[in-house]
Amino acid sequence: MLKKILCPIDFSESSEKVKNELKKLSGYNVDEVILLHVIDERIYAYSSYIDSLSIDNLDIQGEISKYIEGKMADWKKELEEAGLKVTTKIVEGIPFTQIIYYAKSLGVSLIILGHRGHSKVDEMILGSTAEKVARKAPVNVMIVK
Ligand SMILES: Nc1ncnc2c1ncn2[C@@H]1O[C@H](COP(=O)(O)OP(=O)(O)OP(=O)(O)O)[C@@H](O)[C@H]1O
Ligand SMILES: [Mg+2]
Repeated sequence: MLKKILCPIDFSESSEKVKNELKKLSGYNVDEVILLHVIDERIYAYSSYIDSLSIDNLDIQGEISKYIEGKMADWKKELEEAGLKVTTKIVEGIPFTQIIYYAKSLGVSLIILGHRGHSKVDEMILGSTAEKVARKAPVNVMIVK
C-alpha cells in the first residue's frame, strides 16, 4: 500500500514527467499526495545588494511566493481532476534538508521526484537534490527519468 506520497517539485521540465507518473497512480491505493516546494533560502543572498541600490519598490519575496502559490494551485487542481487527494506545502530552506525533514515528520511511505531540475548542465545524470534525497531518505525513493 502506498498511503502517503511526498512529491517534491521545482516546476522544472522534469517535474512535468513526475506529474504524469502521479496521475498513473490514481486508483492504486494512494491515500494522499503531498506536493512540496522549497523556496531555496540561498536565493535571498543577493537581497543585500538590492537594499544598497535602494530599489524599494521590489518585493521579491512576495512575488516569488505569489508565483509559487499559483503554480501549486494549478498542480493541485490537475491532480485532483485525475482522482488523487492532494495537499500542498510551500516552505523555505535548503531543498534536500526540508524534503528529508518532511518525509520523516509527515510519515510518508514513498518519495517521488525528478532526476533533474532547473540545472542546465547537460551531462549531469542526477541533480544534487535528487542525489542527496536518494542517499538520506528514510523511505523508498522513486526517481522519475
Ligand atoms: N526547491 C525544490 N523544492 C522541491 N523539490 C525540489 C526542489 N529542487 C529540486 N527538487 C526536486 O528534485 C528534483 C531534482 O532536482 P535537482 O535540484 O536535484 O536537479 P538540478 O536542479 O538539475 O541540479 P542542481 O540543483 O544540483 O544544480 C526535481 O525534479 C524536484 O523533484
Ligand atoms: Mg536544483
